[in-house]
Formats: sequence, C-alpha cells, structure tokens
Amino acid sequence: MHLDRASLLRNLTLEEKAGLVSGADSWWTKAVDRLGIPAIMVSDGPHGLRTQTERRNGAYVGAVPAVCFPAGVALTASFDPSLAYEEGSRLGEEARGQRVHTVLGPAVNLKRSPLCGRNFEYLSEDPYLTGVMATAYVRGVQSQGIGVSLKHFAANNQETRRMSVDEHIDERTLRELYLAAFEMVVKEAHPWTVMCSYNRINGSYSSENAWLLDDVLRKEWGFDGVVMTDWGAMNDPVKARQASLDLEMPGPSPEHDKALVRAVREGKLPEATLDAAVERILAWIDKGLETAPCTYDREAHHAWAREAEAQCAVLLRNERHLLPLASFDRVLFVGPFARTPRYQGGGSSHIRPIKLDGALDFCAADWLPGWGDDGKTADPARLQAVLDAAPRYRAVVVFAGLPDAYESEGYDRTSLALPACQDALIDQVASVQSDTVVLLHVGSPVTMPWKDKVGAILNLYLGGEAVGSATVDLLTGKRIPSGKLPETFPLRLEDTPAYTDYGRGTHDAWYGERVFIGYRWYDDRKAGVLFPFGFGLSYTTFGLDGLELSSRTWSKGSTLEAKVRVTNLGSVAGSEVVQLYVGMAQSPVPRPPKELKGFRKVFLEPGESKVVSFVLDERSFAFWDVERHAWHAAKGTARILVGTSSRDLPLVAKVEVREEPRPVVVTDTTTIGDVIDSGWPYPRFDALLKKLAASYGIDSLDAAGEDAAMYRSWMLATPLHSLAVFAGVPYEQVLEALR
Ligand code: GLC
Repeated sequence: MHLDRASLLRNLTLEEKAGLVSGADSWWTKAVDRLGIPAIMVSDGPHGLRTQTERRNGAYVGAVPAVCFPAGVALTASFDPSLAYEEGSRLGEEARGQRVHTVLGPAVNLKRSPLCGRNFEYLSEDPYLTGVMATAYVRGVQSQGIGVSLKHFAANNQETRRMSVDEHIDERTLRELYLAAFEMVVKEAHPWTVMCSYNRINGSYSSENAWLLDDVLRKEWGFDGVVMTDWGAMNDPVKARQASLDLEMPGPSPEHDKALVRAVREGKLPEATLDAAVERILAWIDKGLETAPCTYDREAHHAWAREAEAQCAVLLRNERHLLPLASFDRVLFVGPFARTPRYQGGGSSHIRPIKLDGALDFCAADWLPGWGDDGKTADPARLQAVLDAAPRYRAVVVFAGLPDAYESEGYDRTSLALPACQDALIDQVASVQSDTVVLLHVGSPVTMPWKDKVGAILNLYLGGEAVGSATVDLLTGKRIPSGKLPETFPLRLEDTPAYTDYGRGTHDAWYGERVFIGYRWYDDRKAGVLFPFGFGLSYTTFGLDGLELSSRTWSKGSTLEAKVRVTNLGSVAGSEVVQLYVGMAQSPVPRPPKELKGFRKVFLEPGESKVVSFVLDERSFAFWDVERHAWHAAKGTARILVGTSSRDLPLVAKVEVREEPRPVVVTDTTTIGDVIDSGWPYPRFDALLKKLAASYGIDSLDAAGEDAAMYRSWMLATPLHSLAVFAGVPYEQVLEALR
C-alpha cells in the first residue's frame, strides 16, 4: 500500500500541511486520518533501540527493553564495515519488532576533542573511517526496510552550550573533516533522513542554514530525503523551510504551525516551499509502509553482541604475553565493573538492555571491590584489602573505567583522567603484582600514568550488554583481540588540538586547528602520544610485505590499485587491520603529513597469508580547493604508507600526482610563483621575467651563483603589480603577456 502523494498534496489544507511539518509528540509524526496519512514512530539508537511507549502525566517514561550493542566508538574500533552492517541490520530487525519506522542514528560527528561528552556515540577522529563504518551501518539498518537519521548535521562536536554555540569553521575544514563523513554516507547509503544539529555554523543555526541544508546537502550531494531537527533545534520555522528543513521535532508546535500558515498567506513563504517539505515527509512515510513487523530472537542478538564486542576491544599492551590467561585459578578480579560493567553512555542513546553480562557471571575468579561502588570514591579499607591480597595471586585483573556520570550527552569532560581512586589502586597494585591486567570501560581516551607498570591493558570501550562475557572470552583467548583505536589517546590534555578553545564555556568555538585534528595534529607536530590512532595488538603477530602499485603516477579520472601481503606469523589465528595512508610531499595548502585512505581487516590462520587490495581515486589525493570550489588533487609526490597503525607504517611507495596545467586566475596580487605553479605556458611572460632577473643582475630566474637562491625567492614572491616598480613593466603589459 503506497500513498498517492500527488493526490494527497492536492487535498491537504494549508493548515494540515503546516501541521504535518512538525511532530505529534516526542516520537510520532502527525496523522491526517481524513486522508489516510498514518503517523509513524521514530526511536533513538544508535547502538540499541530506545522505544518509549509508556506515558505518565502526558510524558513518555522508561523504554522498551532492547539489546544494547557495542557503542559507536567500540563498533568503529573493530575497523570492520561488515560488523557495522550486521549491527545495523539487527537494530533494524528490532525496530521492525517495535513497529518503529526510523532509527535516530548513526551519530557521525568527529571527535574534535577527546573531552566531548558524546564521544562514546561518535565513531572516530577520522572522517574516512567514520564514513566507511557509518555507510555500512546505514545499509544494514535500511536493509530491513527501516530508516535512519544521520546525525547531527553538522559540527555538533561539543556538548557545552550545544544548543547555541556558534562553530566558526573555515570551509576547507568543514569539507575535509566535519562534512566528509556525512557526504560519504549520503552518497553511498542514501539515508532516509538527516537530523540537523543544534548549533550554529558561522553564524547560522543548522536548522535554517541554507548553505548547509540546501546548497551542500541537497543540491551538491543530491540528498532527497527528509531533514528533521534535533529535538528542540528549531529556531525560526519559516527560515528553516526556506533553507529546506522539513520536520520539526518534537511536536506539537502549534505556534510554529500557525506562523507557517501566516507566512504563506502573507506571501513570505511560497506555498510550493511548504509543499516540497510535505512531499518529502510523505515520501519518507511511504518508504516504510510496507515494512512488515517481525519477531526477533533477543538471545541471538545478545549472543551476536558478545561476538561483536570481542572484535571491537583494543589490546593496548601485553608484556610477556601475559594475556591470554590460561585459567582464572588464582586470579583476582578488582572493581565493581567485574560484576556490573559500564557498557553504554548517558543521554538519549541510553537504552534499557535485555540483560547485562558481568564477567563474574561467566567465570570463577576471586573478587574484591577495590574502591567505592560508584566507581569514583576511594575506600582505604577496600584498597588495602586488594594490596594485601594481590601478591598471593598469579595475576590481578582490574576492571577500570569512567563512571556513567563522567561521560554523557549534555556536558563535556574537563579532564582525561580516570577517577583518582582507580589510578591510585592500579599504580599500587602494579607495584606488588607485576602481572596486573587493566581493563578499560571508557567511551573516550583516558590518561594512564601507570601504563608502563602494568602487564597488560585491554580497552573494551563501552561494549554493550554482553561486554562481561566478551571480556571473559578475550581474557581466556577463546576470542583474539583485533580492535584498533579509532582515535588518538593523547599523553596530556594540553597536547590536544582544540585545547586552547574547547569547552571553555564561551558562546563561540573557533576551529583554529583547522584540518589538524587527531593524528593529523600529533603527526604534524611530531608529538608523542600515549597510543596512536589505528593501534591495537593481538595474541599473535603479523607481517606485511610486497607492496605493489598498479602505477607510479596518478592523474585526474584514473584509479590506482595498491596491493600488499599480510601474513600471520604466530601460532594462533587472528585478525589484522591493514591501513593505508596518503601524504603529499608538496601542496599548495597546509596538509596533514598523512591521511587514512583505506583499511582492510583480514582473518588469518597461523602461517596463512593473504593479499589485500586498495583502490585509490581522486579523493585519495585531493584537498578541498576553496578557490576552485571543488576537490582538487594538486601535482606533487604522494607517499603511500601501509602498515598496522598510524605510527607503524613500514611499507612506503611514491606516486607522482599529475595535474593538468590551467590558466592562472590573475589579479594584481597574484605572485610570479603562482603563475609558474599553474604550469600554463606563458612564453611572453617568460620574457618579462628575464627583465626582472636583469634588474637583480642575473640572467634568469634559475641562474646559479651567489645569492641566486635569495633572488629566486624574491622573484617568486613578487606580486605582478610590483613588476612595474622592479622591472619597469606596467601591470597592463603583464596582463597582456598572460593572455
Ligand atoms: C537529543 C539528541 C539526539 C536524539 C534526540 C532524540 O537531544 O541530540 O541525538 O536523537 O534528542 O532523543
């Protein structure tokens, strides 16, 4: 059964149309019974369904139990798009079971700072990794005939003042970082809806930002779905529709509905504009009308969550092959998370799980709390009990991590530290027990002052409701860790890219770090980090060799293939993530030393080898050229770097990026260097250069001899209007030579 949208549009009254572009309540759109337009339901995600059906005093309360899958950052740490697809598909199945039409996720804002309260929900500091994983997730959800809402478009990169902060971001930074993942998902997975962010971007609220929503999202990227507001993000309902925003959530919003009717009647808003929004909303409703409800196996979803988390956890340290533990005999577990682990973040994504696996439910190990039940209060007696007991055990496993209150939607962290009581216990236990294992239940980076004192560190991130059983599988070696960090763990907060600006509580955020966030920042500064982007160990080891390129040159319109062989050198099976980065040796704009442009996760039996392949295209080499208003791969030498971490790239090959010369866009301040760099032949201009060279007493720009380098630099930096002064060549004559 499909809606006859054209007929409906003809028959809807103006008031009904204005009513349709705002919700009925927190989770439902409005129905128009007279015309058979049904209401549909949306529910949060992104890593589990938060469906609310119960009301108390008119307000929704609670949530229907649902499976809590690994949170966004954990799922991304798997570096496995097929896993993201599988999580999305199961989420879509559960949505069908709850008759939800659209799931509000994935959340693909970048981790500009490790302090962001919603980093657990976001995927990475890298736009390419974010885009690839989110594309797979969206395909998974929508494969079930369930929609998604790609959020929060755009630049919702902090929780501090999130509903009003003005994010001042230059266009190149927006394009290359904060919009790039949205672009990839829109173009490759066609999300049914996009959710605009609360914040302003360069002075304009996202909900009414015509450049963002209409010029970029719709006209450039071809998005034809529904744009809805984040909840309460509507600022001006008329301006929003003029910017091509469709649906205000939540509803109802009678004053805004009336404002729209008035605006149409007064000729301030063309009715056709309102009709376009209604048409897109009807088309969106229609997409899910034939999706059949289904029952799903919760236990099977829970079991899948356990397997998934085992592929997400990141092994950061494993001295003396301390892990896996052959058994839990004489092993001491420490910390309340061993019983009741932290497995998800706070805020709109916080769901009611089917059940929660604690590691101690799945193994027999001795246990001591070590600190307060709240995870952050020191308890001297409990600490002392651990210190007294630790030496008597073969190993101590500390279940550490950030308590719920430390990470949530609505506010940002102010420190990278774990609770002091946890740092203190870990440090002291490691002094009396060399085989100390630290498990981290965190949604974002933390500092680890005790890193070199402990034997092993396994980052579980926020691993979903099955994190406890997955932990036991990983500790015993039943499952082999294969995750990689989707974000840099910095040594200090002061080292982070946005430190001078982030979370200072101001009304404005100034992105002075530009495209240099995450590893882009630390690499550019050659700065040390605690653990680098893309890093993760295994219980086996791998070797890479045989990097081959299909060509040593690249030019616009072509693709280039890179192949590399990866071998399991150890005695147990495992998975490795081969990563490919590209760095330009020369560039007309400041560029990071390297950027992730490909990754492949591959499972290998002991001794097995496989060849993985990457295809590089223009976007592998290009930057956003603000002058051209386009992606542009400038000529130069590209370094293709392949390895298993952003800081372990043993295989390097060079590719010459060729660029078609083109006439330079001339102004009187264009420099001689710009003209030459354009590569366009200007024979008459060369004669003028000789005159300039002569004024310095040399015979050409490339003359050798003393001070030649100095004269050359002077000449290249000379703006065209200065040729009149230095070489007696008036600007008009210069222009003539450049025709
Ligand atoms: C929240 C969140 C958004 C969520 C929505 C509905 O404010 O920012 O991610 O989907 O409201 O709960």
